[in-house]
Amino acid sequence: MHIQIENLHKTYRRGETELEVLRGISCEFTPGSFNFILGPSGSGKSSLLYLLGVLDQATSGRILIDDSAIDSWDEATCNAYRKSDVGFIFQNFNLMSNLTALDNVLVPFLPQGIDAEITQRAEQLLERVGLKDRIDHKPNHLSGGEQQRVAIARALLKKPKLILADEPTGELDSTSGHMIFQLLRELGQEQQAIIIVVTHDERHILPEDIVHRIEDGLLIDIDEAQQSV
Ligand SMILES: Nc1ncnc2c1ncn2[C@@H]1O[C@H](COP(=O)(O)OP(=O)(O)O)[C@@H](O)[C@H]1O
Ligand SMILES: [Mg+2]
Repeated sequence: MHIQIENLHKTYRRGETELEVLRGISCEFTPGSFNFILGPSGSGKSSLLYLLGVLDQATSGRILIDDSAIDSWDEATCNAYRKSDVGFIFQNFNLMSNLTALDNVLVPFLPQGIDAEITQRAEQLLERVGLKDRIDHKPNHLSGGEQQRVAIARALLKKPKLILADEPTGELDSTSGHMIFQLLRELGQEQQAIIIVVTHDERHILPEDIVHRIEDGLLIDIDEAQQSV
């Protein structure tokens, strides 16, 4: 998958007030790239992820996915994209309280049927996020960080071409956080996925990563700035 963003604007309207959050963002995300989006609270990081996930509409500008403008997509195309192509790792992880960790990971696959192969992959993912011995636990017997790791495994099971992660390690201690980033990097490489991570935690950034910062509604590529130092 290849993503191109052209002059993207997002303005929220509440009654009389307008809040211009994104003010003309242009950028590109290429297969296999690991991208960070940094920026202060309220700068529009989550808003940008919602637009990329086609969970919200831009005020103006375009997002092109493999040269196809998403504002030309019909509802079925949007749904297929969200369901098959995008792995969402958001803060409100919405696990089902009556299901075990394993079944929660498998939920998105229920409509098409669960076979032994997909179950094994789900178990492997839970193992890779460090929950091998929590597979049969229900969410209320898991810590916040463990629940978040279940949600991460759930997002990765479909082998998404795009992973959108909003503060994915916010609830995690640094060891688990490191493990999650390692897993995202491995899977991103294996599947040549685009990974876009919003975070405050700059400790996980590697020299080869692409780092953007949202400032005053604009996206600034800070790689070049860093490299020229
Ligand atoms: N649905 C909405 N309606 C109105 N304002 C919103 C909405 N969503 C976000 N905002 C506002 O837009 C700004 C950017 O929000 P957000 O994208 O969540 O920032 P970040 O993720 O960088 O903290 C904030 O001031 C927030 O209050
Ligand atoms: Mg946010």
